[in-house]
Amino acid sequence: MKPTAPVTSATATAIASSTRIIEVLKTPKLVKFVAIVLLSVSLVFLATHISSSTSPFSSFSTNYSLPPPPSPSPPPPPPPPPPPPPPPPPSPPPPSPPPPPPPSPPPPSPPPPAVRRTGIIDENGTMSDEFIIGESGSNSAGGFTEFNDGSEEGKEEEEEEKGMKSESNGEVRIRVEKYKECDKSKVDYIPCLDNEEAIKLFSSSEKGEKYERHCPGKDKMLDCIVPKPKGYRRPIPWPQSRDEVWFSNVPHTRLVEDKGGQNWISIKKDKFIFPGGGTQFIHGADQYLNQISQMVPEISFGHHIRVALDIGCGVASFGAFLLQRNVTTLSIAPKDVHENQIQFALERGVPAMVAVFATHRLLYPSQAFDLIHCSRCRINWTRDDGILLLEVNRMLRAGGYFVWAAQPVYKHEEILQEQWKEMEDLTSRICWELVKKDGYIAIWRKPLNNSCYLNRASGALPPLCDPNDNSDNVWYVDLRACITQLPVNGYGSNVSTWPARLHDPPDRLQSIEMDAYISRKEIFRAESKYWNEIIDSYIRAFRWKDMKLRNVMDMRAGLGGLAAALHDLQVDCWVMNVVPVSGFNTLPVIYDRGLIGVMHDWCEPFDTYPRTYDLLHASGLFSVEKKRCNMSTIMLEMDRILRPGGRVYIRDSISVIGELKELATAMGWAPVVHDTGEGPHASWRLLISEKHM
Ligand SMILES: *[C@@H]1O[C@H](CO)[C@@H](O)[C@H](O)[C@H]1NC(C)=O
Ligand SMILES: *[C@@H]1O[C@H](CO)[C@@H](O)[C@H](O)[C@H]1NC(C)=O
Ligand SMILES: *[C@@H]1O[C@H](CO)[C@@H](O)[C@H](O)[C@H]1NC(C)=O
Ligand SMILES: *[C@@H]1O[C@H](CO)[C@@H](O)[C@H](O)[C@H]1NC(C)=O
Ligand SMILES: *[C@@H]1O[C@H](CO)[C@@H](O)[C@H](O)[C@H]1NC(C)=O
Ligand SMILES: *[C@@H]1O[C@H](CO)[C@@H](O)[C@H](O)[C@H]1NC(C)=O
Ligand SMILES: *[C@@H]1O[C@H](CO)[C@@H](O)[C@H](O)[C@H]1NC(C)=O
Repeated sequence: MKPTAPVTSATATAIASSTRIIEVLKTPKLVKFVAIVLLSVSLVFLATHISSSTSPFSSFSTNYSLPPPPSPSPPPPPPPPPPPPPPPPPSPPPPSPPPPPPPSPPPPSPPPPAVRRTGIIDENGTMSDEFIIGESGSNSAGGFTEFNDGSEEGKEEEEEEKGMKSESNGEVRIRVEKYKECDKSKVDYIPCLDNEEAIKLFSSSEKGEKYERHCPGKDKMLDCIVPKPKGYRRPIPWPQSRDEVWFSNVPHTRLVEDKGGQNWISIKKDKFIFPGGGTQFIHGADQYLNQISQMVPEISFGHHIRVALDIGCGVASFGAFLLQRNVTTLSIAPKDVHENQIQFALERGVPAMVAVFATHRLLYPSQAFDLIHCSRCRINWTRDDGILLLEVNRMLRAGGYFVWAAQPVYKHEEILQEQWKEMEDLTSRICWELVKKDGYIAIWRKPLNNSCYLNRASGALPPLCDPNDNSDNVWYVDLRACITQLPVNGYGSNVSTWPARLHDPPDRLQSIEMDAYISRKEIFRAESKYWNEIIDSYIRAFRWKDMKLRNVMDMRAGLGGLAAALHDLQVDCWVMNVVPVSGFNTLPVIYDRGLIGVMHDWCEPFDTYPRTYDLLHASGLFSVEKKRCNMSTIMLEMDRILRPGGRVYIRDSISVIGELKELATAMGWAPVVHDTGEGPHASWRLLISEKHM
């Protein structure tokens, strides 16, 4: 974005004193301006303090005594010696060019950065100015995206609190009454998908409207704790869970009755068993995957193909077996009243969520998936001028593959032949190349650029979409029967191969909307580093590796730094990266890194079953969303989707932590508030809680 302009220090001082006005900064310009100002202030500040103190954090975490590393207050009783008084600006050093201070010496983290993030290191481990911006608090990482909102709080407290510890913060004295348990009928309740009143209105529903989101109104929101089924047990841990789960956790036999004969799922004593085969994969899922890679050798799973979508996934065996090949597959299916496919998938520990091809865009960005798979997924791809296949086309990366395993591919009955013809016709009109057809599998490839689209005869159908239609805009956006064009600059078509792509700043980093007054690549790398520090300390302090984390959700994912850190630090889990609609849409970058994610508005319920995540991580989420809806709404939703025994980590400003603690207690959790790595004077706190079994 725009280069920063120099600011006089006079102005700087003036503004520095009024940091709490940050709230006003709604315009990016202002944000940038203040950022610069803060920078300069911090410079001055550093100049005076740096020399005097060694970083309080240098003793743990890494060599670059980066300030933000979370403070593992509990177990390892590390240092955080009472640092100097809470000065305003972050500790980030010199604003100017990137690598200022030499890496070795104890960098500037001394002053507990009153607010935000404070120092950030650049790719070489040197402190750099990075993003400062007030906002979003220390969550430098996640926060950088939304710095314009959210942080003002915290500032108020920072002055008054002196040395007092966690608990006393917030001081929000709201007493919340204990929440009651909901009626037993809500045991599998998904608020937006079980809204019977809304569903009744769609009697015919030939387009599947009744499977779409219809969220209950404000007066019907969940205000109780969703009960667990009788006999619920701690889930079987991954990787064993790939093959078996407790019957009592998902006590639905309908899928077995319907499909049991097909060998996908069966019941053995107190467990469901997933043999990994079945009609979908006659010789087993592994064999099926081999067949696909043999048909098209360019589909090198785990290299060129990293992120896949499985539509109408059964019990997600396709995704479960692709995991071994270093492919992350998001499995989706509608909420089928009887079959609970997604619930099984999540209980197994396989990435999945409820989603449907009906009348709205799916909540994933354009060019998200390297491969999209549909095996007997019972979707009529050619209906309504191919509107559903055009949605697949939108989400498919340039050069990505569509794998279709279905009867029309190989059966000779007339009606099926007819369907194949229709499919052939449609795919050729949208410029997909049929790369291989073998047995019951057909594989197409999406073009790498727009040249084929532009060379079609005039008037060819389906038409091209209006280039002004933002194809990454997905929140309650209707499907469009048109071809999403690829970016003319080729962005998205040339991501690095896995695993390099996790750390290479992708091209689309340049095209997402965000406030950046310094190099986006720097921000990207800094975010990664920041989360690496934090997760590393969580692993050590809170023993994350012993926690059997499997299904993890980052409720405000930024550029996906947390998920990347979990991967790098070898925590064997997968992460659903949720990008809230209240911030910038960073999903294209998340997918380009080889991660998965989804757009969501936390003022509404999420499309997953109760008890499906082991860990919910929310950094800087509440201070932003509380302006849009009640925090209790979000907390109750978190309780719904959290597994009993699962954990919640909330990093947020002091001003909300107090109230969150009350809410957590009211829900029957046992919340504990810790200081963050910035020490007790920082304006952020870490709330950790476990949901009891
Ligand atoms: C920190 O320094 C020590 C000793 O110099 C080194 O062994 C270690 O790898 C360094 N850690 C990081 C994260 O750079
Ligand atoms: C990091 O180090 C490499 C190699 O020393 C150098 O080329 C690069 O410019 C450095 N990046 C920054 C931001 O200092
Ligand atoms: C998956 O990636 C890991 C490292 O990230 C590598 O050690 C392993 O060999 C890969 N597995 C496959 C099947 O490519
Ligand atoms: C799909 O929809 C098209 C158009 O509505 C129709 O002609 C076709 O028969 C349908 N195919 C199936 C398998 O239902
Ligand atoms: C567009 O992509 C096709 C392959 O899909 C390739 O043959 C062609 O050279 C590309 N054109 C440009 C201008 O890059
Ligand atoms: C894709 O990226 C590779 C490596 O960065 C580069 O060599 C190649 O030219 C790029 N291809 C296109 C079409 O941009
Ligand atoms: C939000 O909280 C306020 C005050 O606690 C309450 O009056 C209001 O009804 C709540 N709104 C919702 C949607 O729960």
